[in-house]
Amino acid sequence: MAGVICVSNQKGGVGKTTTANAVAMGLKKQGHRVLCVDFDPQGNLSFSLRADNRIQLQNSIYHVMKGELKAVQTIQHTGLADIIPANLLLSGIELEFTGAGREYILRDALRPVLPLYDYVVIDTPPALGILTVNAFTASNAILIPVLSDLFSLQGIVQLHDTIRRIRERSNPDLGVAGVLLTKFVPREQVSAVIRETAGDITARLGIPLLDTFIHSSNVMTKAQILREDMMTYAPRNKAVRDYLLLLDELKAKGVL
Ligand SMILES: Nc1ncnc2c1ncn2[C@@H]1O[C@H](COP(=O)(O)OP(=O)(O)OP(=O)(O)O)[C@@H](O)[C@H]1O
Ligand SMILES: [Mg+2]
Repeated sequence: MAGVICVSNQKGGVGKTTTANAVAMGLKKQGHRVLCVDFDPQGNLSFSLRADNRIQLQNSIYHVMKGELKAVQTIQHTGLADIIPANLLLSGIELEFTGAGREYILRDALRPVLPLYDYVVIDTPPALGILTVNAFTASNAILIPVLSDLFSLQGIVQLHDTIRRIRERSNPDLGVAGVLLTKFVPREQVSAVIRETAGDITARLGIPLLDTFIHSSNVMTKAQILREDMMTYAPRNKAVRDYLLLLDELKAKGVL
């Protein structure tokens, strides 16, 4: 039965999609069966993992959420990954679903495919709306990428509030894999301050700050634009190696 991990932060551009991609590719490289779910109307994960997510597509995560198709009918095998794609249609969900029980739709839809995989990795949009609530309700653990800057760190407090509400209402077992510092530049003087501040904030909230951090590297952007698997595109790159270390850490901590 697959463990479901979701990558989330309501702040934009912090490395959610990159992290979802790298975690999925890393787990696959280690021999695990991985399903990616693009749950962001921007469709960035679909793009970088070579999925077809044109707006005319009749089988995306949107159609699953609407109850028109089963999840298994929407999985694309792209050569890079097994992925349920998303596109702009998904943004309609925020307006279309207002009734009771709307936070359970993704969880219930994914249940039948969980026996087919070891891990499901969900990428989420930069928002705390109904899509994110569905992703949190469907997940065992949340991984929180945070830009290595102070304003980004402050967003963790608001995110943690949402996690608390989800635990009370729709998913009491929701775990926090931890806060992951991304685009980290160790030689910059402020880096030490940022790590320390991140440590203070996470300790106060009672959530883990991961020991692993992700170095800043242009290869992250290049691999995704070229739609390459970063694990084989640049196996010796620092950031790529950081993501493999992250998997080791998450496994050692029993999150994966
Ligand atoms: N470690 C890194 N070093 C340098 N650039 C990075 C790194 N990780 C991600 N990036 C780049 O930063 C940009 C934003 O990353 P990404 O798309 O993963 O963020 P996001 O949180 O998913 O954004 P959004 O909120 O819009 O969904 C992308 O161009 C990506 O290639
Ligand atoms: Mg993204």
